[in-house]
Amino acid sequence: MGALLGSRQILCIVGARPNFMKIAPIMRAFAQPESSLSARLLHTGQHYDAAMKHSFFEQLDIPEPDVDLGVGSGTHAQQTADIMKRFEPVLDESQPFAVLVVGDVNSTIACALVAVKKGIPVIHVEAGLRSGDRAMPEEINRILTDQLSDLLFITEADARDNLMLEGIASDKVHFAGNVMIDSLRYNLTKAVPANTTLAKANCTFVESPKSDYGLVTLHRPSNVDDPVVLTRLLKVLARISQRTPLIFPMHPRTESRIAAAKLDGLLADSAITTIGPQGYLEMLGLMKDARVVLTDSGGIQEETTALGVPCITLRENTERPITVSQGTNTVVGTDVDAILQCYEDVMETGGKVGRVPDLWDGESAQRIVQTLNAWADTVE
Ligand code: UD1
Repeated sequence: MGALLGSRQILCIVGARPNFMKIAPIMRAFAQPESSLSARLLHTGQHYDAAMKHSFFEQLDIPEPDVDLGVGSGTHAQQTADIMKRFEPVLDESQPFAVLVVGDVNSTIACALVAVKKGIPVIHVEAGLRSGDRAMPEEINRILTDQLSDLLFITEADARDNLMLEGIASDKVHFAGNVMIDSLRYNLTKAVPANTTLAKANCTFVESPKSDYGLVTLHRPSNVDDPVVLTRLLKVLARISQRTPLIFPMHPRTESRIAAAKLDGLLADSAITTIGPQGYLEMLGLMKDARVVLTDSGGIQEETTALGVPCITLRENTERPITVSQGTNTVVGTDVDAILQCYEDVMETGGKVGRVPDLWDGESAQRIVQTLNAWADTVE
């Protein structure tokens, strides 16, 4: 790796599924001839299944990682520690100009912490988001990564206020927009039509030209690790499916929790079709054509806002408040009546109309790389 990284090279980190769509436009922007900085890619291996990794690299046209740390799963402490231990010698050998991390997963904080202690500048893309919920592992990762970072790129104005409150110097913060929406706009015409994915899953409700369906994703530990909450959510989704058939691409964690709690029967008796984790282009197609999306994902709240599709968020809070104040998102929590009420509202009114937030325009990675080039000139 040493030979690969020169004095103007940025080491970009990915680890888990939601990182892949954020890094793709950044790698593309670094590869433009205007950028005097170039990038290399390191994958920690936090997500390793073909369905959780390989299809994303292919579909998003992300270059093969220059390094794969191959850490795999574990407790948070094990996973974070493993990444740190394996990342340190790579950094020692490669001496990049800076390390760029995205999002809020364990790979983000682990690599940021190793880099900063070696005096290597840390760049955080998607900084400043706060749910206010410290029980969420990602919230801890966000707060700590932002404290360690030298340059912080934010997706919405609220994020700046959050960072100011935590004592981050304002000249480190740059409003660049949302790289996840760069990927969405870049790939929208390549999205796999929903009906193709539904037909593949043998959904009986496939209609021509368009099916009337809802899309579900669930994977947060707070929703799927507690069998009481999981049962409640599956029951309410089963009720909704009687009126709007639901398609449910399942995260491996959720699948194993449903099996462990013996809740498969609940799904079998409903009009919910479960399928394995989907590729990026399949998910884009499923989101785009859905009547409603029910989710606990962070990224999907943003993607549905960009697509103008109603989103019901099955969490008590969101770190992405602009999707509620400007977009199509409603945060309802996990209370059965609140979920049903919100679903009824969406069916009656078609859901919130919303607008696409400022700078969610497909050019965010370009802005980030321009800012980094200017910054590199000042520090070299
Ligand atoms: C991680 C992120 C979360 C993100 C999610 C998207 C953290 C703290 N959480 O959560 O923010 O929304 O990714 O997917 O980093 N597993 C597989 N195959 C894989 C990867 C995981 O089967 O390729 C299973 C393993 O049983 C593992 C479990 O999924 O224990 C959880 O994986 P992990 O990476 O620990 O966290 P996620 O829940 O995926």
